[in-house]
Amino acid sequence: MKGIILAGGAGTRLYPATLAINKQLLPVYDKPMIYFPLSVLMLAGIQDILVISSPEYVGNYERLLGDGSAWGIKISYAVQPEPNGLAQAFVIGREFVGNSPVALVLGDNIFYGAGLAETLKRAAARTDGASVFAYHVEDPERYGVVSFDGEGNAVDIVEKPVMAGSPWAVTGLYFYDNSVLDIAAQLAPSARGEFEITDVNKAYLQKGALHVERLGRGFAWLDTGTHDSLMEASEFVRTVQKRQGIQIACLEEIAYESGLIDLARLNERIALFGSTAYGTYLKKLAGSRIAVD
Ligand code: G1P
Repeated sequence: MKGIILAGGAGTRLYPATLAINKQLLPVYDKPMIYFPLSVLMLAGIQDILVISSPEYVGNYERLLGDGSAWGIKISYAVQPEPNGLAQAFVIGREFVGNSPVALVLGDNIFYGAGLAETLKRAAARTDGASVFAYHVEDPERYGVVSFDGEGNAVDIVEKPVMAGSPWAVTGLYFYDNSVLDIAAQLAPSARGEFEITDVNKAYLQKGALHVERLGRGFAWLDTGTHDSLMEASEFVRTVQKRQGIQIACLEEIAYESGLIDLARLNERIALFGSTAYGTYLKKLAGSRIAVD
């Protein structure tokens, strides 16, 4: 399975913080925001990843993430000339995806919770249709919203409804079979002029091929779309990391524990990060330690 991270957008809602930097490069507590969605794809077992960003900022991602070899994966890059909607990822990424199934994660989405890796691997293992995740939120109108019938089957998805039909937001993580390439290529722009990922999901729903998994109480799906939610996400990460002494979205840890990099490669990263908290954490990882799920 291939993976795409979409890290474009003008970030206007975070102005002036994003006047001269792409939103997904901003820190969430101690790491660049894009580390979080990248860690999600890695936890799903995906090792071939395309990062899509705007022409001004794609070079920053290349500087930050390189070719992915630091984590034993392959990262390539593509440009989205205008922020015309999430579904464009599959038009821009068509050649990259080839004949594979593909996962898309939005560069500003943060997922955390026990059993996350298993949940992701299960979704990645489904070979037919699409898998998306629904999360119970206070303010569903800000998102794509999925409604369910009495048996818990998804019946409708609406993008940013004025009045939400349910409290279940569709998160920014999507697993698709290869037919997503054709579905995305045939979309018409929505009333707000964007190629909507919600229209892609609706096409799967109409075919009876949309699997919607509800993420329950044990999961955190955090938003970084406003100054407050960005600060809250940072506080969440800081609180959990300080209390447990375990990092969230530590790419070297995921790579090392899943056997993608060896100790020599980990030691290179330790040398790079020196005596920072992150470097110290990696040093402990390199010593013997019991992995925490
Ligand atoms: C996008 C999608 C929306 C989804 C959300 C998740 O919205 O259009 O369906 O619920 O991401 O983060 P945006 O963040 O672009 O407003």
